[in-house]
Amino acid sequence: MPLFDKIMLKSAQLKIIGAAAAVVLSLGTIVPAAQAAEGEAAPKEQNWSFGGFFGTFDRASAQRGFQVYKEVCSNCHSMKLMYFRDLTGLGFNENEVKAIAAEYKVADTNDAGEPIERTALPADPFHNPFPNDKAAAAANGGKTPPDLSLMAKARGEGGETDGPNYIYAFLTGFHDAPEGFKVPDGLNYNAAFPGHVTAMPNMITDDAVTYTDGTKATHEQEAWDVVNFLMWTAEPSLEDRKHIGIKVILFLIVFAGLLYAVKRKVWANAH
Ligand code: HEC
Repeated sequence: MPLFDKIMLKSAQLKIIGAAAAVVLSLGTIVPAAQAAEGEAAPKEQNWSFGGFFGTFDRASAQRGFQVYKEVCSNCHSMKLMYFRDLTGLGFNENEVKAIAAEYKVADTNDAGEPIERTALPADPFHNPFPNDKAAAAANGGKTPPDLSLMAKARGEGGETDGPNYIYAFLTGFHDAPEGFKVPDGLNYNAAFPGHVTAMPNMITDDAVTYTDGTKATHEQEAWDVVNFLMWTAEPSLEDRKHIGIKVILFLIVFAGLLYAVKRKVWANAH
């Protein structure tokens, strides 16, 4: 092989090995903490099971979170992207999903084209508490409770755990207003909400739900569980994405090793 070609080959190998090493090294770095808006403290970083390179969902917590959503949040908030059948991804079996759906009624038409009400099926979307946004706003001090399907991704600065950290801080941030801070009638003080005045009342309190698995339903536990649930609804395929990442890195490591072996072979007799 002409020397020039060998040199080109060598520099290409080095680049690939270097790139692979850079990817491997960057695995250890942590997403920088969210920059808080001026005057707002950044929500505290929590230790979520779904964070980091090997993150997975804590399904027991997310199932409890679904209970919190169902019994508390769904009185005001829609989840338009969720269908009952999606709950199998959270570890509920088909009979459980059927039973959950059957707690709701949905509008439909019969074979004669007349409007009817029937029991919901796994293929139906989650129940929407209000017929439209205006009705939702009218019932909530003029503010429509936002749809929660993608909420865990919609808040924060874009880092994977920013949204969950913020929602947890928001749900645990309902306190008495500091002295001198005026909260308008019908609104509520919240330490994490931008501007600190929100139309949402404090909805999760100790024992707002009774967990079927015996977990003590403290205010913080409920907030923690519902955030785990909201992260799952926002990105149900998070685990697949991370597994693919791991496979790609393993491939790169093996590939880098192979390239190195080839390089040694090619250069073995080049004296
Ligand atoms: C009584 C009705 C009601 C209930 C119940 C309720 N919310 Fe809300 N929520 C609201 C309203 C109204 C807003 C809009 C607040 C605003 O813009 O000031 C809101 C806003 C939010 C926001 C967005 C905050 C932001 O930064 O914009 C989140 C997240 C949220 N709710 C989560 C929940 C969760 C989780 C539950 C269940 C534990 C819940 N809510 C229960 C009425 C409710």
